[in-house]
Amino acid sequence: MPASAPKRLYIKTYGCQMNVYDSERMADVLAPLGYEATDTPQDADLVVLNTCHIREKATEKVYSELGQLRLMKAARGGAMTIAVAGCVAQAEGAEIMRRQPAVDLVVGPQSYHQLPELIARAHRARGERLACDFAAEEKFDALPKARRPGGVSAFLTVQEGCDKFCTFCVVPYTRGGEWSRPAEAIEAEARGLAAQGVREVTLLGQNVNAYRDADGIGLAGLARRLARIEGLERIRYTTSHPRDMDDDLIAAHGELPALMPYLHLPVQAGSDRILKAMNRGHTAEAYLRLVEKIRAARPDIALSGDFIVGFPGERDSDFEATLDLIRAVGYASAFSFKYSRRPGTPAAAMPGQVPEAVKSERLHRLQALITEQQGAFNAAQAGRTLAVLFEKLGRNRGDLVGRSPYLQAVHVKAPASLIGRIAQVRIAGAGKNSLAGEAVLETA
Ligand code: 5AD
Ligand code: SF4
Repeated sequence: MPASAPKRLYIKTYGCQMNVYDSERMADVLAPLGYEATDTPQDADLVVLNTCHIREKATEKVYSELGQLRLMKAARGGAMTIAVAGCVAQAEGAEIMRRQPAVDLVVGPQSYHQLPELIARAHRARGERLACDFAAEEKFDALPKARRPGGVSAFLTVQEGCDKFCTFCVVPYTRGGEWSRPAEAIEAEARGLAAQGVREVTLLGQNVNAYRDADGIGLAGLARRLARIEGLERIRYTTSHPRDMDDDLIAAHGELPALMPYLHLPVQAGSDRILKAMNRGHTAEAYLRLVEKIRAARPDIALSGDFIVGFPGERDSDFEATLDLIRAVGYASAFSFKYSRRPGTPAAAMPGQVPEAVKSERLHRLQALITEQQGAFNAAQAGRTLAVLFEKLGRNRGDLVGRSPYLQAVHVKAPASLIGRIAQVRIAGAGKNSLAGEAVLETA
């Protein structure tokens, strides 16, 4: 049936960058059906919540959003289809249906290619609830290739799932085991992006540096292939596990100028006792040695991390060990979280659950230290010259905004013709979240 009047699609994305990528693919797969994006749910014919299950707060947000959507749907006499996608859908699809009758369909992360079919079925038989199967390869084969009209930077999923089973984490259950897309298919997608003007790709995976395709190509090999693509100037990848940071990948950082010197390498905690209870599979010392090795290969590399405070059994001395590790590494930025008890994970049943007030106090102290390090890192850029990839017009007339190799936003007076290009910019100073450029020196 040919698409008639455009239908409006509202997608709300929670959680990680992989969900951002998945939301774009969902929009792409729905476009041939006549769905056009709108940025409010009020007038949408189809609302998709792409959800996150990582912490309790993220999950609860979904239920409160659904409560509001139920009212909107009722106000429109039911003329709104509500779909829940993502990791909450995968983990508790039946629970969503039970708690919120306004939901028409639930679809897990491996089944987005089936969306048109699922929506059609939901429209034919209101209230039909649909299970999703688990065939990752099929998903990527069946979804349209990434297209980012006008974008300078794009995400590209290369790997999904996780076999690490950190005892606090739901990902191995919601996203399943580690699975890598064929390098061939990724390269084709990256070429397509480059041809559309994309200059920077961020390779995504829950355990991206565990990437290894059926032909044995690892992340280093993949990065080398992508670095040869004409027009693709920058390659990033996230999120990495310390255990998968192998010598070949470290060497690639030394070899490939396109591989950006900014690495997200979560350690979660700095106490060996806690690292063991978390099942991280490495000690604090091993992590520090790894960081040294990476810095030896690429001296200008900056690091970011993830930290959890208040893991079950965490004592003051354990928490101090985390602060010590942060001081020893020196991070350019970091995400930090209070431990959130996730049903079904081993840590949820561990003794020594830490009181909320203690978690809050530790989080506060940890974040103060990170803020200090981030401020110092940004301030240290003043007077330096950085390669900036220009993305868009700035807020002030004549300003452009770009990104440094370290993902800092850089504001500088520059002609709009530089959008999509990389130029050397002398940095005058640093604000809290961005850098001010003084002058564009030369285009790369
Ligand atoms: N509680 C708190 N933080 C968590 N993370 C994962 N699971 C939990 C949890 N149960 C954090 C980790 C991970 C990041 C994506 O989310 O730091 O690296
Ligand atoms: Fe979760 Fe650990 Fe896997 Fe990261 S490595 S996704 S924290 S289980």
